[in-house]
Amino acid sequence: MYVYLNDRLVPVSDAKVSVFDHGFLYGDGVFETMRVYDGVVFMLNEHLYRLYRSASMIRLDISFDPDFIKKAIYETLYANKLRNAYVRVTVSRGYGSVGLDTELCKEPTFVVIAEEFKEYPESYYRGGVKVIVAKTRRNHKDALNPQIKSINFLNNILAKIEAKEKGAYEAIMLNSEGRVAEGTISNVFFVKEAGAIRESPLLCTPSKDAGILDGITRGIAINLAERDSIMVNEGSFTPEDLYSALEVFLTNTTMEIIPVCQVDNVRYSVGSVTKLLHEAYRKVVKDYVTSNKLSSLKGRR
Ligand code: PDD
Repeated sequence: MYVYLNDRLVPVSDAKVSVFDHGFLYGDGVFETMRVYDGVVFMLNEHLYRLYRSASMIRLDISFDPDFIKKAIYETLYANKLRNAYVRVTVSRGYGSVGLDTELCKEPTFVVIAEEFKEYPESYYRGGVKVIVAKTRRNHKDALNPQIKSINFLNNILAKIEAKEKGAYEAIMLNSEGRVAEGTISNVFFVKEAGAIRESPLLCTPSKDAGILDGITRGIAINLAERDSIMVNEGSFTPEDLYSALEVFLTNTTMEIIPVCQVDNVRYSVGSVTKLLHEAYRKVVKDYVTSNKLSSLKGRR
């Protein structure tokens, strides 16, 4: 297995980072997770845009351009002969002596890891996953903004520990006002019944103001719902709103759209909106992969 480290591919046994790296010492850095379908990195530009946005929010200057990162990702995929993969790009503040001053680090450390994608069990999509509402609250956006995809993941890890202790797959975190924010590695959606005035169900998801990472999958799910004339409410919601929902689902790059069958003690069946959006999502992926393959073929001619 090969890993891209700084400026080159190295065998995994040589892929070593210093104990003085500020990523290790302070969790000072940013990352992105991407999914590769049939050799194509899905939503690559969007992920790179977010990587640079996260970096700029922590005043980390990624000294190289997005084309270099794209090349590094594809070289890592080719070197490992991967067509369906999980890709993680990490940029840390880099090597420097102990201390919080970012100027102690002269150059960021850059790593690309690519691994064979392990499919989620089909039963997750058919029957849904169990989640809990965690006691651990999401970082306040004025403390450490969840829009920064930071390698300091302790907040999420603490909530994940709670989920595991309760035999749940994911934990939904509330913000400091007790409003629903997001999962530890996912965004959350729920469907409300059509009311007396509304004819179609309403799809709800916490707004960016709730203090969340604005997931790329979340954005696609919202666009697909709107395209299919499903009304979307990006708002502020309580756990009770979740408990009284008809359907609940989670989104992220690797899981796509995964139904939830239980939040705490409340059960849900996998509903039609979740199924419709997941099918539509898979079509978006298929079209994206086809058109990106075509454009790379044209580029080679
Ligand atoms: N996690 N919220 C959090 C806290 C996340 O960590 C993620 C992604 C998301 C969903 O974002 P997207 O749809 O862009 O993947 C929401 C990735 C998958 C990870 O932690 O590896």
